[in-house]
Amino acid sequence: MKWIKFLMASYASLFLFSSSLMAVGVKNDPVEKKIDKLISRMTLEEKIGQMNQISSFESIETMGEFVKKGSIGSIINEIDPIKINTLQRIAVEESRLGIPLLIGRDVIHGFKTIFPIPLGQAATFDPELVKIGAHIAAVEASSVGIKWTFAPMVDIARDPRWGRIAEGCGEDPYLTSVMAIAMVEGFQGNGSNDPTCIAACPKHFVGYGAAEGGRDYNSTFLPERLLRNVYLPPFEASVKAGAYTFMTSFNDNDGVPSSGNEFILKQVLRKEWGFDGFVVSDWASVREMISHGFAADDKEAAMKAVNAGVNMEMVSMTYFNHLKELIKEGKVKQETIDDAVRNILRIKFRLGLFENPFVELNKPSVMYSETHLEAARRAATESVILLKNDNQTLPLDENIKTIAVIGPMADAPYEQMGTWVFDGDKAFTITPLNALKEKYGNKINIIFEPALAYSRDKNTDGIAKAVKASEQADAVLVFVGEESILSGEAHCLADLNLQGAQSELIEAVAKTGKPVITVVMAGRPLTITKEAALSSAVLYSFHPGTMGGPAIVDLLFGEEVPSGKTPVTFPKTVGQIPVYYAHNSSGRPANGEETLIDDIPLEAGQTSLGNRSFYLDAGSEPLYPFGYGLSYTTFEYGNIKISSSELKKNDILKLSFDLKNTGKYAGTEVAQLYIQDKVGSVTRPVKELKRFTRVTLQPGEKRTVNFELPVEELAFWNIDMKKVVEPGDFNLWVGGNSCDGKEISFKVIE
Ligand code: NOJ
Repeated sequence: MKWIKFLMASYASLFLFSSSLMAVGVKNDPVEKKIDKLISRMTLEEKIGQMNQISSFESIETMGEFVKKGSIGSIINEIDPIKINTLQRIAVEESRLGIPLLIGRDVIHGFKTIFPIPLGQAATFDPELVKIGAHIAAVEASSVGIKWTFAPMVDIARDPRWGRIAEGCGEDPYLTSVMAIAMVEGFQGNGSNDPTCIAACPKHFVGYGAAEGGRDYNSTFLPERLLRNVYLPPFEASVKAGAYTFMTSFNDNDGVPSSGNEFILKQVLRKEWGFDGFVVSDWASVREMISHGFAADDKEAAMKAVNAGVNMEMVSMTYFNHLKELIKEGKVKQETIDDAVRNILRIKFRLGLFENPFVELNKPSVMYSETHLEAARRAATESVILLKNDNQTLPLDENIKTIAVIGPMADAPYEQMGTWVFDGDKAFTITPLNALKEKYGNKINIIFEPALAYSRDKNTDGIAKAVKASEQADAVLVFVGEESILSGEAHCLADLNLQGAQSELIEAVAKTGKPVITVVMAGRPLTITKEAALSSAVLYSFHPGTMGGPAIVDLLFGEEVPSGKTPVTFPKTVGQIPVYYAHNSSGRPANGEETLIDDIPLEAGQTSLGNRSFYLDAGSEPLYPFGYGLSYTTFEYGNIKISSSELKKNDILKLSFDLKNTGKYAGTEVAQLYIQDKVGSVTRPVKELKRFTRVTLQPGEKRTVNFELPVEELAFWNIDMKKVVEPGDFNLWVGGNSCDGKEISFKVIE
């Protein structure tokens, strides 16, 4: 742990410096002058070239030709450092103006050393660790010449059917904003002075996570107030953190595709937030405006995108083919092109590419270094959520004699890395089975019977052997979930039950009467209502990455104590979706007294069913609420105090409470603060997360925890579409999840 503290201390100063750099006015900046000078020397073709990103699927010769003519600003997906240097050499030595290329790649949750999927990282509620993870990804990626990652994904996602929920931080704007800042700062480090800095690209701007029915690429219908209160905040936080680039999203919101949406790209991003980096489209999303029926052809698509504020086009070449003509026809202004190029060049300067575009070859490899693996292990440890632990089934006793290890995810090195892994090598992954054998192989009799070959396997022939193994064991570890390909882009599901015969497998081993400990490795919350009921304990690890195995084994045996919390609400059944904690209150909110389907008397009168907002067959509660997670120890909240019960708009609410570890293990609690604005000019969420902190306590230890919340953070977009704090009564809770908590009230006065 010492090294983590060291990294955190040294990075902290680095990051502070980088954010202050961003604040420097650009007008008199010598770099801006250089950019202007360069632009004044550029031909229209060269300017359009900077706005063109091609994919490395082209041969190096073809790419070289383009680069030499100044027809490319950026290449996506080239990871060979020798080729990168060759292309950069052509760019700086053989093209007329010597402008370096920007090499981009999706480095989403690690380059080689794979960290838990972003949703898992969000479950840590540990932004410092997330920042370190992003920094490590940048160190590894930049060592081969990658200077731009298409991350973080900061889309709010309230529908786990959407496969891309795996890539973001879940349902909550505040948690996602905190993690967005951590990731942007982690990737970008110290900007131009830092050779390991890679440009971040918060995506997908905006609303993409609200795709109708959880079907990827689908339309969204987010009214401006919802957009501003929920979907925009993580993007705004990313701008404040100094993000260099932004990516538009595939969806159309209320009929306007994001790559043609002037309101979000100009009004919000540039005017309101003052973003001075550049905006890239998503892959072919400019051309896809034709499929949307928003543009008739490539030329119109290019016109709409560039005029809306998309500065660089990813791969579809409509800019390259049509901008010149559009300028001639007066449909695009020269100024629009100059602005786009200025934004792109600014980032190339900021990344230090003009000083040194080359990657140093023959340096010792930084991939999979011991510190990187150790950080990935810590992230995996903190990301695991203990959802159930009846009769303290966990932690397991080291003196246990025989363990049955069952299920398709126990030894699936590729699958446990999760979605969006292009470069991680499964040979470096440590699976739970291997970690168990390594650590306990000579003490404990480990019987491995996967029963199913992979998560979708429907062949039940192996289940009998798994049952037999379980009968011989003192505890049964069942590793289930989903293969990595079942989440991520375009991998949406209409059914969130365990795939294949996994449920049958759990049912069969549970019948043995042995304690069943279910570990779920997945890209999203799955509907595990039945399986959780059959298990004595449930650990949810999402896809935990390279070091998932040792992390899980440490938790199973109590060397580490679970501290992860759900970053998204877990539904009981898919029909409850969307289900999220921060919903507005209806006029008839559920109160737990509803009559469920089996209790309805025959020929019941039409008013007998509670008349409240709930499902007859699923009630109103989710399986696990947002912010939820157990520990091996217990925590008690008390003595909650507030600085004043009446606060003015520019005051800071100061809150303190005592947190006590009342159990037998040292453990870490994620203490959470929620508020409710009781009456507004528009209806407000029933609860909103506003602060959280991780607190580590020894058994019996009590600590006073303090939160400070500027009253201005209670502002929201109100009936007049203004961001204001409205005076009135508020409720506040502190607790270990979004459902429980100690309550206190306060008032905001004029
Ligand atoms: C499409 C995805 O939507 C985006 O997230 C990704 O960064 C680009 N492709 C580039 O691979």
